[in-house]
Amino acid sequence: MITITVSDKKIWEQVASCYAVMVEEDFVFSKELKFFVQQFNPDLPRILEKSKFAGTLLQTHILPVMDDKKLVYVIFVGLGKGKDKKTIDIENYRRAVSHILKQAEKHKCESLTLQLPLARLFGVTHQELGQQTALLANMAAYHFNEYITDKERKGTEVFELTICTDSKNKKMVEKGVKEGACIAQAVNKARHWVDLPPSVLTPPFLADKAKEIAKKNGLDITIFTGKQITQMGMGGLAGVARGSDQDCRLLIMEYKAKKKTAPTLVFVGKGITFDSGGLSLKPAVHMETMKEDMSGAAAVIATMEALAVLKPSVNVIGITPLAENLPGPKATKPGDIVRFYNGKTAEVKNTDAEGRLILADALSYGVKQYKPDAIIDIATLTGACAYALGPFYTGLMSEHDELAERVDRAAHLSGDRVWRLPMHDDYKVAIKSPVADICNIGSNKYMAGAITAACFLQHFVDDVPWVHLDIAGTAFNVPDLPYYRPGATGVGVRLLVDLAMNW
Ligand code: BES
Ligand code: MG
Ligand code: ZN
Repeated sequence: MITITVSDKKIWEQVASCYAVMVEEDFVFSKELKFFVQQFNPDLPRILEKSKFAGTLLQTHILPVMDDKKLVYVIFVGLGKGKDKKTIDIENYRRAVSHILKQAEKHKCESLTLQLPLARLFGVTHQELGQQTALLANMAAYHFNEYITDKERKGTEVFELTICTDSKNKKMVEKGVKEGACIAQAVNKARHWVDLPPSVLTPPFLADKAKEIAKKNGLDITIFTGKQITQMGMGGLAGVARGSDQDCRLLIMEYKAKKKTAPTLVFVGKGITFDSGGLSLKPAVHMETMKEDMSGAAAVIATMEALAVLKPSVNVIGITPLAENLPGPKATKPGDIVRFYNGKTAEVKNTDAEGRLILADALSYGVKQYKPDAIIDIATLTGACAYALGPFYTGLMSEHDELAERVDRAAHLSGDRVWRLPMHDDYKVAIKSPVADICNIGSNKYMAGAITAACFLQHFVDDVPWVHLDIAGTAFNVPDLPYYRPGATGVGVRLLVDLAMNW
């Protein structure tokens, strides 16, 4: 974590090893900016001009200068311009902040001072801008290096960030910074769990982590073990876990709003701690990153911790089915039929379509036990979704327009982008089975694997407004975005937190 201070002193009055200023495209030097810049080098305004620094998005000019006997860096980063020429997309700001942090880190700076731009440039409040600054700086600073022994490769560990703003905005920026740091901690915690090796992060291990979180933050938690899961009639979850020595778990975490009449949201996250495909074994290359298959569960558990601190005015229940999908001697076989918590049955034609089997039980449980106002599941569910949308948009499937739009708005505000795929009745026949209620894979001729998976899940949500989020493409190894690194992204945490906070 970065230590963040908000200051109403001028940027040139700060002591740091790195100073950063963001400018919009085709900026003109304000008096203040000119003054600041000339402190380091009287020629700097002309240098920027002559070097064709125009402030396009992420365009960077780094100036090393000697400050007394210390080497310090002054970084200029472009914010680009807005489509409508009025406001700049806040996503540009997210990228600029994370880019600056990575640059400071690359130059081994231990402290960074950042001039906060005017919030109205992005059409947001100063609180929101403070929140995004703290959130994105912390996301950019995430490392997974506990298994790296070479100190040089580990990178900078201590980091101090000072945000300079006007005294009239200081309080609001500070408030936002607090929220942002809290959300970032959740995002990075989810990433850490996903990045841990799958033989370390097993269902009991993650259940223990959730228990610690619940205890520390005053959340209620119920943990069902394999035996109880079987007794409750959750044949989907139990069936997937059967091929592994690792016992499965079902976690239920509850956040209660102050108001008795508050609406209730249920978040369900897929928690396959390793997906080998089971007896329908995956080829080796497809298995390489399958520790990521619990990213949905990680997002839900981490979100619950953030919500316990941020205290939204809705009740939120986080449900995470956890299991390992392996081809052991007791494994479910293609042709087996399982019976779920809500009594429905499914033919398991392909044991690699396991996510929907564990989600079926979790969704049925959430719907029956809590009768929620909305239920949202998040899952690394299908390769098809990753092929359709690539690494930048999470697939959203729903037949409930109002809820879908709500989630879409939260996506815009939070930066976890979603794109809706159709869920027309025409697709629903794809999962017919001659021997059970439904089949766990769609018939070939319908293709659309992401959608037919959603059609399967729909059998377990009754009439509750429901949104399904497929994060198979967005959970791991997302390229090019400066707030990510190779490995886990923590996708979904920002979105779910936003959704609950603005419900
Ligand atoms: N966990 C995978 C989906 C996945 C693929 C996640 C790539 C992340 C990246 C899921 O359990 C799976 O194996 N799905 C199958 C379904 C098929 C058998 C119908 C798939 O997508 O191939
Ligand atoms: Mg699978
Ligand atoms: Zn899977």
